[in-house]
Amino acid sequence: MPLSRRARSISPSSTLAITTLAKQMQAEGIDIISFAGGEPDFDTPGHAREAGIRAIQEGFTRYTASAGIEKLRDSVVAKLKRDNGLEYTREEVITCAGSKQGLYNLAMVLFDKRDEVIIPTPYWVSYPEQVRLADATPVFAPTHEEEGFRLKRRDIERVLTRRTKAVIINSPCNPTGAVIDTEELMAIAELAVERDFYLVSDEAYETLTYDGVKHVSIASLGEEVKARTFVAGSTSKAYAMTGWRLGYVAGPKEVIKAMIDLQSHSTSAPTSVSQMTAVAALLGPQEPVGAMRREFDRRRRYLLERIQSIPGVTCIPPQGTFYAFPNVSAFYGKKIARGRKISGSADLTAYLLREARVTVVPGVDFGSDKHLRLSYCMNIKLIGEGLERVARALGQLS
Ligand SMILES: Cc1ncc(COP(=O)(O)O)c(C=O)c1O
Repeated sequence: MPLSRRARSISPSSTLAITTLAKQMQAEGIDIISFAGGEPDFDTPGHAREAGIRAIQEGFTRYTASAGIEKLRDSVVAKLKRDNGLEYTREEVITCAGSKQGLYNLAMVLFDKRDEVIIPTPYWVSYPEQVRLADATPVFAPTHEEEGFRLKRRDIERVLTRRTKAVIINSPCNPTGAVIDTEELMAIAELAVERDFYLVSDEAYETLTYDGVKHVSIASLGEEVKARTFVAGSTSKAYAMTGWRLGYVAGPKEVIKAMIDLQSHSTSAPTSVSQMTAVAALLGPQEPVGAMRREFDRRRRYLLERIQSIPGVTCIPPQGTFYAFPNVSAFYGKKIARGRKISGSADLTAYLLREARVTVVPGVDFGSDKHLRLSYCMNIKLIGEGLERVARALGQLS
């Protein structure tokens, strides 16, 4: 059956594909250690789960308003004030089935055929696809490993044109873990105002920063920049709520209204029960967030030390998220048994799956073929065992 041009233009999310493959192999009894996943291995905090259960028991199981219930939108408003120093009204907030749907809705209502949207590389896999689905053109702005992959104003300036409609910033960044410092955010905000483009600020990992580095929302740097910024947030990573599917976008209300109208014709609204869970997560005790962050930090330091000790591997210390993005290009051109050579990150990923029974995500999927993305959403013992396997397999290449 002939598929639409749109359907033919997209590739499936590679991270989800690799995670599915790892789960499948594990179900078949194969001992796989997966560094590929993109979700916390913790449970949703008890008080939030209970709120979800209560919602079911009390019959809160029907359609809600498309933008989400007022109580949830008000909870997002309160959260943005409490954590980010941002003032929004309810009408400036939409809640969605994950921030991924929020970002998708935004792309659909903001971008048009001749628009260019700047995406810093390495990037989260869904940005270019969402921009293309909106018929706009993704324009890539490389960041630099020597600068810790932290986006600079000049990286944007290099590719800015009169057709630039928006720049997507993602700090802390998936896959590099880079966090843009406030001074540079300031410079980027000034550029956005000067050159009149929108900012899409994906803050899904805002609670996960380390080594005293603090997350700052670019929208909080002044009224002028706030007026042209969309802040996307999520309960997924902060509250270990990936499966509940609840995220939000805050920004200028005409655009939010268009997103609500669009959503009313796609998913209608986020799941009612998840909305109640999210209210409890956002407004309830925040200690579980800190506890998860501390555990991720312990794992990050351990993983970094282990990975940097593998000959041939280098890795900039990630300042946020739960990913590391080691450079493995020293292994390209090396021989696997029977003379075949490793040609790039996808090849090395396949080799590690076969030889080490370890899954990672190839950097090429994030726009950087020199790297692999490893997540540390598992206990320290497994991280150690997995890296042992990786080191052994890499050591066999000659
Ligand atoms: C950078 C980034 N943004 C957004 C999302 C979407 O998260 P969710 O739809 O669960 O809120 C993810 C998920 O992996 C992500 O890594």
